[in-house]
Amino acid sequence: MFISTKAMLLDAQQRGYAVPAFNIHNLETALSVAEAAKELRSPVILAATPGTFKFNGRDYIDAIVRTIAKNSDIPLTLHLDHHESFKDIKTSVDLGCKSVMIDASHFSFEQNIEAVKQVVEYVHAVGGTVEAELGKLGGVEDDLVVGMENAYFTDPAAAREFVVKTGIDSLAVAIGTAHGLYKSEPKLDFERLAEIRKVVDIPLVLHGASGVPDESVRKAISLGICKVNIATELKIPFTNSIREFLIANPEESDPRKYFAPAKEAVKKVVREKIQLCGSNGKA
Ligand code: 13P
Repeated sequence: MFISTKAMLLDAQQRGYAVPAFNIHNLETALSVAEAAKELRSPVILAATPGTFKFNGRDYIDAIVRTIAKNSDIPLTLHLDHHESFKDIKTSVDLGCKSVMIDASHFSFEQNIEAVKQVVEYVHAVGGTVEAELGKLGGVEDDLVVGMENAYFTDPAAAREFVVKTGIDSLAVAIGTAHGLYKSEPKLDFERLAEIRKVVDIPLVLHGASGVPDESVRKAISLGICKVNIATELKIPFTNSIREFLIANPEESDPRKYFAPAKEAVKKVVREKIQLCGSNGKA
């Protein structure tokens, strides 16, 4: 069933867990996430980037997740991940999507606020939830490539001002994670996270969670992270499984034959991440 992301995140904040947000790419990955979440009775966010919407069509992704929500008793939501264009956001919101991340973190502080305010106004009018980012994560997420030299951490005082001025529902913080694969183990700035938490009362979001050690994710959740974003760690097993299957079965041409183990490979990681987030049994 569809439920508001805001309600999900506030429940997580109150009960001290995080809702995992998994990036999906197609029917198979979306179903894998939903099936594993149902098994473990976990609320879950199915996130899709502009690249995924462009590849499949906004209405197709919307229809897939809507159908999953209709057939599932698990609280879930379709979330627009790292959207930069108001036009794209409007198209999805007009289709019925109520969970949006506007990423204007590449702009100046003032321009970021202005871009976010426009989205907040539109999305709140339909009862939706808005996430925005302050600070800048490095790494690669679809078409979004940020060199580590351009990444910078979230300033707690600026975060407070940003939240007050924009009226957002959740804040993505830059505290040392990056999108994509890490070259060395990421070290998170927990002091900064605690400082942000002291002055910002809305749920905080951790992007770039693939490859972050479990203890660090747990500690971040204990310090106020209520949503944990995972993309790369699902893409790799999905693709590896298909690659291995086709190497072992070079004559096979039935997509169902190689999608079945690929789905299982994704579900295994989804189960692990749900447990890591402590969201199992919360639905
Ligand atoms: P990873 O690919 O590093 O897991 O990042 C996911 C993410 O933050 C999506 O917004």
